[in-house]
Amino acid sequence: MILPIYLYGQPVLRKQAEEVPQDYPELKQLIADMYETLAVADGCGLAAPQIGKSIRMFIVDGTVLAEDYPECANFKQPFINPEIVEESEEVIAYSEGCLSLPGISENVVRPVKVRVHYYDVDFQEHDEWLDGFNSRIFQHEFDHIEGNVFTDKISPIRRQFVKNKLSNIVKGKTTAKYKCKRN
Ligand code: NI
Repeated sequence: MILPIYLYGQPVLRKQAEEVPQDYPELKQLIADMYETLAVADGCGLAAPQIGKSIRMFIVDGTVLAEDYPECANFKQPFINPEIVEESEEVIAYSEGCLSLPGISENVVRPVKVRVHYYDVDFQEHDEWLDGFNSRIFQHEFDHIEGNVFTDKISPIRRQFVKNKLSNIVKGKTTAKYKCKRN
């Protein structure tokens, strides 16, 4: 089932999301629905708050980017109760966009590598380093479950520049080619 994507201005995007319990009802179905939603919207990641659920879970699909970023070739999986346990000191700027902020893309500076801890869909524990664009996608999605969006992390000058675009999203003046939940 394709779910509406909650746009900037929806309060759920600003909440710190709750841990996912092992007995969370219909978790696999929710993940399947999120993958269907992500594919239609043509994105590479989607966090549960973006479909209105304030839980600590997101999905990624970097396979669409594999031509430009080979590390993404197998990067398609859900992350449940993820944490960033270590970051590289080295940082890098990349242009980011977000399905909840249609029409905006801005450079965001983030650590190059992150060591992450998470559970898979069978609640098996994992601990690994992510690099390149995988690290980037993870960090962007992780922000969502903390109640942050990428424009919180851009320079003050660029934030001033996107102010009108953000307020247009809040006012419902922005169009997106996918099903949205907006004001
Ligand atoms: Ni996003």
